[in-house]
Amino acid sequence: MPHIANSIEGKQLSVKDLTHSYGGQNAVSDVSFEVNAGEIVALLGPSGCGKSTVLRAIAGLIHPKSGRMVLGGADLANISARARGIGMVFQNYALFPHLTAAENIAYPLACQQVPRTERKARVEEMLSLVRLDGYGNRLPRELSGGQQQRVAVARAIAGRPSLLLLDEPFGALDRALRFDLQVELLHLQKTLGITTLIVTHDQEEAQSLANRLVLMSKGNVEQIDTPMAVYDRPNTLFVNTFIGQANILRGTVMRLDPEATLIGLPGDKALRLPRRLNFTAGSKVTVTFRPEEVRLTGQPGENSLAARVTVSVPLGPTLVHDLVLDDGTNLRASEVRGPSTFVPETGTQVFAEIDTARAHVFPGEPEVSQ
Ligand SMILES: Nc1ncnc2c1ncn2[C@@H]1O[C@H](COP(=O)(O)OP(=O)(O)OP(=O)(O)O)[C@@H](O)[C@H]1O
Ligand SMILES: [Mg+2]
Repeated sequence: MPHIANSIEGKQLSVKDLTHSYGGQNAVSDVSFEVNAGEIVALLGPSGCGKSTVLRAIAGLIHPKSGRMVLGGADLANISARARGIGMVFQNYALFPHLTAAENIAYPLACQQVPRTERKARVEEMLSLVRLDGYGNRLPRELSGGQQQRVAVARAIAGRPSLLLLDEPFGALDRALRFDLQVELLHLQKTLGITTLIVTHDQEEAQSLANRLVLMSKGNVEQIDTPMAVYDRPNTLFVNTFIGQANILRGTVMRLDPEATLIGLPGDKALRLPRRLNFTAGSKVTVTFRPEEVRLTGQPGENSLAARVTVSVPLGPTLVHDLVLDDGTNLRASEVRGPSTFVPETGTQVFAEIDTARAHVFPGEPEVSQ
């Protein structure tokens, strides 16, 4: 059996066509992605989409129905969970409650039969790495949530894994602490160079931590890209609405010109997109655009829709306007706020001018659940 547990350098992980079901229905279907050596990739998607299942399969906690997982060239199917050289932080961080912080961290080292003196030194090193020097003798219940979280991370990296799996590591923590721990984790990961796969359903967390995102929905991978590419060029309506905010209008393709497309909206309105779309005339489509792609004006113009302001709310440096169109559709607009930015009263009639060069068009009508 190959021994990879003591390796220090991060290794490349490759997951190919991973499929698993817990009974009849597939929890994940044909999931494929790669994490390069030393890279942080975030697995992102709504609750129940299969993120933890993917992690459990990689860690060897479940045997997938089919698929291939390779870590640093070694096929994981031939390697027991313990010998995979993988550190994992579980969704509920699951420290052993009857063991102290130091004993928790030492646990994987004992499993690896690291000699006692080295174990002690390594535990001290880990405690200091996660800034918990002096806390080694405390039991988990004597630590705050954030401190327990750091012990869990220390335990996961104590065995010098070549792959770190983090399942919603900051799920239970408040926003400010999450941010601090995210920054710490990034620093730690960069220092150690561990290949890292982090699961989250928090899009901001994913975007701030990861080089690339793997977006999952209902057991399938929808898109794999950098955070910026996912935001700017979503492959699907799901990705578009899951990452960031998106306004959604239903429409029908009316006319296709060589360099423009006219899309009809309810109430005899239309939007002109400055490119030819790959649809046939008459197709039902869904048009989406981000709040920052909507500008409020006092005059009608091309690609502007009459709207009424429901409420305008300053959110730090931005001003967010909730609008309603004549047909009852809600829209959101946002703009960077300056000292002289005009804040409209509720009920003000405006025109919402849409930057159609940045709008996206997807086939079909939006699902009602959006
Ligand atoms: N042990 C199990 N037995 C039966 N079904 C399960 C089991 N574990 C998970 N499932 C089902 O498999 C699907 C995927 O679950 P999974 O835990 O991977 O989701 P997740 O993306 O991690 O969700 P969350 O964000 O809520 O943690 C869900 O429909 C879930 O109900
Ligand atoms: Mg989960």
